[in-house]
Amino acid sequence: MSKQNTVIALTKGRILDEVLPLFERAGIAPLEDINSSRKLIFDTTMPNVQIMVIRGSDVPTYVEFGSADLGVVGKDLLMEYGSEGFYEPLDLRLARCRLMTAAPVGASPVAGRIKVATKFANITRRYFAEQGVQIEVIKLNGALELAPSMGLADIIVDIVDSGNTLRANGLEPLQLIAQISSRVIVNKAAMKMKHAVIGPLLQQLAEAVEASNRA
Ligand code: PRP
Repeated sequence: MSKQNTVIALTKGRILDEVLPLFERAGIAPLEDINSSRKLIFDTTMPNVQIMVIRGSDVPTYVEFGSADLGVVGKDLLMEYGSEGFYEPLDLRLARCRLMTAAPVGASPVAGRIKVATKFANITRRYFAEQGVQIEVIKLNGALELAPSMGLADIIVDIVDSGNTLRANGLEPLQLIAQISSRVIVNKAAMKMKHAVIGPLLQQLAEAVEASNRA
C-alpha cells in the first residue's frame, strides 16, 4: 500500500452507519457500498484517501503502528486497551452509550468477593480497585447477560444503550462506570507528516460534529 495515501480505519456495524455521513460532510465518501462488499479497503471521493474496515479492537493497533493514519473507535476500547500510542483529538459524539454494572433485578448485595463477568477486564479491575471492592473478573467475549442466571457471575460490566438487552435477561443497570462515544485517533507521526490532509480533515469533522449537534 502506498504511504502517499492517507488511510482511515473504521469498523462495520453501528459505528460505520453513524460515522460515514459525518465523513461525507467532510468530503470523504467510499466509492462503493461498504456494507454490501467483501472488500476491506476502499477508495474514496477524496484522491489518495482510503477507508479500511476492520474490527474495533484492531483499530488502535493499526493506528499506533501507522498502517492506518487515523481511525474511529469507541472510548470503551481505548479505556480497555490503553490510548498512549496515538493522539485522540476528537470526540465524534456518535454511538453514544454507557458502560455500567448490572445485576439480576432485586438481587441482594453479595457477601465477600463479587464475581464480575465482562469483556472489559482492565476497566473492571481498575473501577472496583478504586472503589476498594474485592472482585474476581470472569472474562467473556459476548452474551454476558447470561452469566448471572447461569451461576457464572454475580454481576456483569457491559455496554448499555437502550437497556433492552438487560431487561430481556432479567437484569437492571446499577453503577455508571463511563459515558462512551466514538473517538477519532491519529497516528503520531502521520499527524506531523500528513498534516496537510489530516489537519483540514479533523477541522471539517469537528465542524460536522458541531453542525449535527446543533441540528
Ligand atoms: C452491546 C452490549 C449489549 C447491547 C446493549 O452489544 O454488549 O449486548 O449492546 O444494547 P441495548 O442496551 O440497546 O440493549 P453490541 O451490540 O455492541 O455487540 P457485541 O455483543 O459485539 O458487544
